[in-house]
Amino acid sequence: MTPVEPPPRPALPLAPQSVTNWTLRRATNDDLDDLTRIAIAAFAYDRQWNYRYPHAAEFPEDHYKYTRIRYGEWLDANTTPRCIIMVAECFSPEDPGGKKVAAFSIWRVPPAHDTTEDDVDITDKLKPPSPNPDRRDASQMHMKAYRLATEFAQTKFFDRLLGHRQISLAQLATDPAYFRRGAATKLVEWGIEMLARKQNLPISLFAGPMGYRLYQRMGFRSVVMATVQVSGEKEELMFPGMVWKDGLREEKEQVWDEEGVPQLFVVAEPPN
Ligand SMILES: CC(C)(COP(=O)(O)OP(=O)(O)OC[C@H]1O[C@@H](n2cnc3c(N)ncnc32)[C@H](O)[C@@H]1OP(=O)(O)O)[C@@H](O)C(=O)NCCC(=O)NCCS
Repeated sequence: MTPVEPPPRPALPLAPQSVTNWTLRRATNDDLDDLTRIAIAAFAYDRQWNYRYPHAAEFPEDHYKYTRIRYGEWLDANTTPRCIIMVAECFSPEDPGGKKVAAFSIWRVPPAHDTTEDDVDITDKLKPPSPNPDRRDASQMHMKAYRLATEFAQTKFFDRLLGHRQISLAQLATDPAYFRRGAATKLVEWGIEMLARKQNLPISLFAGPMGYRLYQRMGFRSVVMATVQVSGEKEELMFPGMVWKDGLREEKEQVWDEEGVPQLFVVAEPPN
């Protein structure tokens, strides 16, 4: 299979699968192909991704090319203290001698949201990608609106609630062939233990319908609902912003309708 062919979309497993033994390690530049492959396959199931890249199936070359450029940028950021990319590996049945990368998480760490002149470039790489008129797989307006909405929600809600010293989980993805085998749970547990608890910092993230239950089970609570809508369009994208913090209290329950649209969200208060 050439890298630009859209990957087959396996049916989602209906129940948890047998738990696999995962090894976690920090990503290196050699992981670029794996990160690109996993992102394209996994995010095909994600509404936030499909909102921004609605023509991915029509233009798989562009989708592959620009996704790979994007993960190259993330890997540049991963060489700085501002970003940590972790990968989860397991023994691969096709290659019993070797390990296969099956999932990854991307963490922004403080001072990810403070900008000094020296690191404007890195700060930009830590945000959702800017519109790019050359890519035919994307909706330029949706990319722009998504970037603005997440920046707005970050400043108005997360920063106001948590201050600038917070960790953000920017991305979490598992190769669909390994869905529901515990890889993402391991990666999030690592972030809670090794980043948040060690430095006594909260974690913020924007959740999609597939990650929502997992985050909730791990103690994240919704604190804001972000809505992205381009003026004049009916289509809108809504997703909760969630926070993990030791001792966070939950007051209301999140409910999603069959379309995956959130109906109610949790109002959470940080502990005193
Ligand atoms: C979300 C995602 C990272 C989970 O990865 P994973 O390695 O399968 O996760 P785990 O095996 O550790 O945990 C599985 C949990 O994910 C959630 N999940 C998995 N498939 C799901 C589905 N079809 N619908 C809703 N939730 C689902 C459930 O909470 C599930 O827990 P359960 O198996 O006890 O019900 C993966 O489904 C994925 O990459 N999805 C596409 C990209 C995406 O949505 N990323 C997250 C954006 S917030």
